[in-house]
Parts: sequence; C-alpha cells; structure tokens
Amino acid sequence: MPQAEIRPDRVPRHVAVIMDGNGRWAQARGLERNAGHRAGLESVREVVRAAHDLGVAYLTLYAFSLENWNRPKEEVSELMRLLEHYLEEELAEAMENGVRVRSIGRLDRLPPSTRRAVQKAIERTRRNENMELLFALSYGGRSEIVDAARRLIREAELGVVDPDRLDEKTFAAYLYEPDVPDPDLLIRTGNEYRVSNFLLWQIAYAEIYTTAVMWPDFRREHLEAAIVDYQARERRFGQTSEQVTGAGAVGDDSSVGGEGEAVGR
Ligand code: IPE
Ligand code: IPE
Ligand code: MG
Repeated sequence: MPQAEIRPDRVPRHVAVIMDGNGRWAQARGLERNAGHRAGLESVREVVRAAHDLGVAYLTLYAFSLENWNRPKEEVSELMRLLEHYLEEELAEAMENGVRVRSIGRLDRLPPSTRRAVQKAIERTRRNENMELLFALSYGGRSEIVDAARRLIREAELGVVDPDRLDEKTFAAYLYEPDVPDPDLLIRTGNEYRVSNFLLWQIAYAEIYTTAVMWPDFRREHLEAAIVDYQARERRFGQTSEQVTGAGAVGDDSSVGGEGEAVGR
C-alpha cells in the first residue's frame, strides 16, 4: 500500500510505545511465550534505529510493568535475561549513534545483574545527544505519581514546598525524569486498547495510535505508518480548530494552554 510521506518538520518529539503481543505472537505459532519475547527484541532494535533515523528526540519503550512481576517466574526471569542481553549487545551501537539510554521505574526491584546492566548503559551513554531512549522497567504510572507525592509531602514538611503554591508544573518536577517532555505519540501494538498503567500523568494530551500488529512483527514501516497518521491529526489542547490553525476571528486568544496550566512540557 503506498504510504504518505513523513513530513520531517512535524516528526513527534517524543514517541512512547506499549510493546504488546509477544505472547500471542508465539502462541499463534505453537511456540512458548518466551519465544515471542526473544523475537520482540529484534523489533526493539529496528524501532530504535528507525526512530533515530527519523529524528525522534525521545523514545520511551514500556518493557516491563510493575504488574508484570506477577507473571510466572520463568517468564519474568527470561525477560530480565533478555533485557540484560539487549543492553550489553546494543551498547556499542548506542555509542555509535549517539543514543542516550535512561530508565523510569522502580529499579530497586530488578535482580542485581539486570540493575547493573541498566546502570552501566545509563552511565556509558550519559553524554550522548542524538536521541534519548527511555526504558520503562518495573514501571507503573500510579506508583510514579505516588512516589512523587511522597517526596513532595516530605519537602512540604521541611518547608521546601508551599502546598498553597503547588501547581502542575511543580508537581511534575517530582516525577521520575522530569526533564523529558510529555509524549506526543503513544503507540500500542497487539490489538489492545488500554494504557495499562503507562505514563498516566504524561499522556494527558498524547495522540494515541493502536495497531493489531503484534510487537514481534512491528517494523520500521509500522512506525512510519504511525507517524504519518499522527501528522494528519489536529492537536487542539482543548481549544477550537479555528484557534489552533490561526483561522479564528479577530480578538481570538490562540495561546495554547491559555488560562489553565500549560499542557505539554
Ligand atoms: C508484551 O507482550 C511484553 C511484556 C508485557 C513484557 P506480552 O507478553 O504481554 O504478550 P501478550 O499480550 O500476552 O500477547
Ligand atoms: C503492558 O502490557 C506492559 C508492557 C508492554 C510492558 P501487558 O500485556 O502487561 O498489559 P495488559 O495486562 O494486557 O493490560
Ligand atoms: Mg500483553
């Protein structure tokens, strides 16, 4: 199918992906679920390369949720092993392409060797500037908000924060990696239509794209299709179409964010 061209001036700055469907992909082929996770690694490699080539500045991949700790322990340990393997294998390419690796989530729950691999990748790539690649690991959106609230309350008790002056911007500064802008485009593969506790705060105004493609089949062309779809959307942030296109009447207040607190950091 011929595909519309991607407009390089309107590539989403931050793309976040819920990589779903590994288990079903494998089961449909008569394989065990872990075979799907192994196949899914190739999709990670390709999507990271494609995002880098397209000029995406931030790519966040949902690799393991806090709820995923409840999966059978053989599956959890294979996922941890694959993650370590991926980080070790891809470090050279990340350095070559200037990709900075970061992570969000409760890393303290990871097995020590996995945590070390994550920390090593973060440390080594810390000065890279071409793209930021964030792994959501042992991550839950609600927990992220709870963790932020806990720190905020402590600081309020110490008098560092004044509760009466708390606003969205101040609150957001307590989230895991507050300098990362909110996702513009949220992709979920695997034919599901839910957010599964991913970046609850940050996706307030993300454009959502879902596809029936299972993660192990997701390739560069699928990422491109999602971006083409995104580029055809009109992001209104609560305003009217006339306001955001500038086609409104005289006296229009077309400043995005307006009265309320600005959306999109
Ligand atoms: C996504 O695939 C990978 C993780 C959640 C770690 P799944 O393992 O959820 O695959 P399905 O949804 O069962 O097919
Ligand atoms: C979401 O997928 C988590 C990751 C992709 C890491 P799940 O497969 O865990 O989500 P649910 O359980 O179907 O909502
Ligand atoms: Mg799933």
